[in-house]
Amino acid sequence: MAHLFKLIVTLLCLGLQCGLGQAAAVDLESASSSSSSEATRDWWQVAQFYQIYPRSFKDSNGDGIGDLQGIISKLDYLKDLGVTATWLSPIYTSPMADFGYDIADFFDIQAEYGTLKDFDELIAAANERGLKIILDFVPNHSSDENVWFEKSVRREKGYEDYYVWHDGYLNATTGQREPPSNWLQAFRGSAWEWNEQRAQYYLHQFAVKQPDLNYRNPAVVAQMKRVLTYWLDRGVAGFRIDAVPWCFEVVPDAQGRYPDEPLSGYTDDPDDSSYLKHIYTQDLPETVDMVYQWRQLLDDHKRIHGGDTRVLMVETYSGLDYVMEFYGNRTTKGAQIPFNFQFIVGGEGDKNNTQLNAVGFVKIINSWLSQMPAGQTANWVMGNHDQRRVGSRYGEDRIDLMNMLQMFLPGVSITYQGEELGMTDLDISWEDTRDPAACNSNENIYEQFTRDPARTPFQWSSEQNAGFSSNSTTWLPINPNYLTVNVETESAANTSHLKLYKLLVQLRQSKTLQYGATRCAAVNDNVVAIKRSLSGQPTYVLVANVLGTSVSGVDVASVLYASGSYKITLLNPQAQAAVGDSVTLSSLSLPPYAALIVESV
Ligand code: GLC
Repeated sequence: MAHLFKLIVTLLCLGLQCGLGQAAAVDLESASSSSSSEATRDWWQVAQFYQIYPRSFKDSNGDGIGDLQGIISKLDYLKDLGVTATWLSPIYTSPMADFGYDIADFFDIQAEYGTLKDFDELIAAANERGLKIILDFVPNHSSDENVWFEKSVRREKGYEDYYVWHDGYLNATTGQREPPSNWLQAFRGSAWEWNEQRAQYYLHQFAVKQPDLNYRNPAVVAQMKRVLTYWLDRGVAGFRIDAVPWCFEVVPDAQGRYPDEPLSGYTDDPDDSSYLKHIYTQDLPETVDMVYQWRQLLDDHKRIHGGDTRVLMVETYSGLDYVMEFYGNRTTKGAQIPFNFQFIVGGEGDKNNTQLNAVGFVKIINSWLSQMPAGQTANWVMGNHDQRRVGSRYGEDRIDLMNMLQMFLPGVSITYQGEELGMTDLDISWEDTRDPAACNSNENIYEQFTRDPARTPFQWSSEQNAGFSSNSTTWLPINPNYLTVNVETESAANTSHLKLYKLLVQLRQSKTLQYGATRCAAVNDNVVAIKRSLSGQPTYVLVANVLGTSVSGVDVASVLYASGSYKITLLNPQAQAAVGDSVTLSSLSLPPYAALIVESV
């Protein structure tokens, strides 16, 4: 039996298919992280990033809505957590049709959240603690309440083509006016809206109140660069760029026609955006070039004003070939962090990945590492404000395991607020639903679209409203599990998601995890094994049983070439062992969902 297992392992190491499908062990030494040496590694390459959703982080003035002073009051929490930089979902003036992703004034702060003075105070308070602030940059659209749109509606000089306008067509049979093309918005229904005053349709690839800016107009390109410069001048360390694939659309033909998009065949629901293949409205090459121009602007800002490298994070759920282009090419630099959403979109068949086995996990990991261009840095995003929470997708038993994976893998780690506590989704009634993606549907189907469950207020303590707000109500309801899932309780407990998270962040500072090579394998359907090694430093191995069945006699040592003695450094409670215990990597027994990080001795 032992011989047979060894043979299988050998075949796996040779990368051959042999019953365990994708289970091949893969060395990722060259692809796993930047080729830069330890001495030249830039701050962001070893950073711990943390996403704040300001509306739900901390309310300082008792109106039930989070705000900037709330964030300032919790900077010490972030510092204590080991965070290097935090990216904030939009804080700009907005009618909140899409909770800040509909910007009425790109140069000011939403009054509910505070003022520019509060913002400057936030930057200063963050700087004092060595924390960096990154803002969400929403280039694709503005609010229809933005003065640019109002001027465009009135065809004011210089603003006529700020947005994408079209007459549409008169249907000769019905006499009715019809939109210029069949394009659909991300939030259900036509992407074209008739504007009475201008007597034309405008394009909105998101909600009706989010008109698309026209990137074919150089004045728009220049204006958005002014936005970047304005916030860089106020001290931000970079930007997360929103909804990037949508920036450019195809140019109309000689008759001024926009082409219809073909049917995708994925759904019969003609209002659902996935009804069409978005070949004319998403993933255009011009968009990649635009991101390169923004990178140039950030680098120029640093050259002129000094300070640390400013970073760009790109939000795109596109195919990996397109995503990888954002890193840049031989001659031009792109974004340092095109978000790696493989743990969100990379499952097979099972949208929530609740049943994902070890082979599936390794496939997800390798998909990024094997396609990333040489010399770039990987990043790992497990969730964000648009997705179900990790514990509600992968299962609550795998919360620690997912945090362990995220911190153990090479490159940048990005945590959405509350994942360090193991916060989970809250089912929200139709009456309490606020997200336009859900409100644009109906009471029967809204749960397929809603993003509210992952946006509930942060759980600070077991006090009223989880210590988030002193108001009697909060903008979204609080998850009742706050009584146990909160910072205060988890800090006081002997073991908790939060305590493990902090230890993981500390371990991530080790030279091995920051600069070491990576070898990753699915040993069988249950067990993911990853080795991180660096000459002259301790070797670490992560072993995780990702399924709900126990396994025994598992040989992790052979597949990872991890000989020698190991002891446990960190573990989840399911592992039923203790820090310091010796482990035999050639014959491991693992209870369901057990995850261990062991260190060579
Ligand atoms: C991005 C944001 C999402 C928003 C959309 C439109 O996907 O993350 O929250 O609704 O862009 O701006």
